[in-house]
Amino acid sequence: MNIIKTDNRQQLYEQAATLIAAQIIAKPDSVIGFATGSTPEGIYQNLVERYKNNFLDFSAITSFNLDEYYGLAGSHPQSYRYYMQEKLFGQVNINAEKIHIPDGSRKDAGAACQDYEKQMAQAGGIDFQLLGIGRNGHIGFNEPAEFFPGDTHLVDLTEDTLQANQRFFASREEMPTQALSMGIKSIMKARKIVLVAFGEDKREAIEGMVNGPITPQLPASVLQLHPDVTIIYCPV
Ligand code: GLP
Repeated sequence: MNIIKTDNRQQLYEQAATLIAAQIIAKPDSVIGFATGSTPEGIYQNLVERYKNNFLDFSAITSFNLDEYYGLAGSHPQSYRYYMQEKLFGQVNINAEKIHIPDGSRKDAGAACQDYEKQMAQAGGIDFQLLGIGRNGHIGFNEPAEFFPGDTHLVDLTEDTLQANQRFFASREEMPTQALSMGIKSIMKARKIVLVAFGEDKREAIEGMVNGPITPQLPASVLQLHPDVTIIYCPV
């Protein structure tokens, strides 16, 4: 694992955006896995600036997002599809037909997950996966569990995640309790992984991920087994 500590969040955004930009410049038709949450927002802003300054061309990339709330239509302001449209996709020249996000509005969650895995395989797999991390060590929405989930699947969100994310919803009742998420196998198949995190409340998860035992109780610890992981962490 390559670990980069930054002094401030701006540096984190800059460094992560540089890695994504380098990937797209080296391989314009890259398949990029994007993440949501508050951490990547500044990274996306940075990428949008690079695009507006003509330093970056998204037209040939294919994108796959990690996860989506189950039961939310893509038009819901708290859906991850909406987030991605607002923060990145709507502001750059990505081809809308090449955007993939698990379909949280589909009744048959199993079929939605299977289709998602097929689409990732058809695209040739993910070249570069951006990840955040939950306070409890989740990646995507792979929550602490007895085993590592494999493929894209329907997840019951844990109490810790519900508490952490309810700030985005008007009320707890409005917040979905389930999500569709790439599994650990889907994530580990990515050729390159960059995980970003900031803040004191992520310190324990980061410490466990890097130095602790590899255990599904801290899903991100599995990344110790991946050959190309960069972690960018800003403690403040
Ligand atoms: C969310 C997302 C994850 C994200 C994590 C951290 O629940 N499903 O993909 O990495 O939690 O979010 P934040 O960056 O807001 O702390």
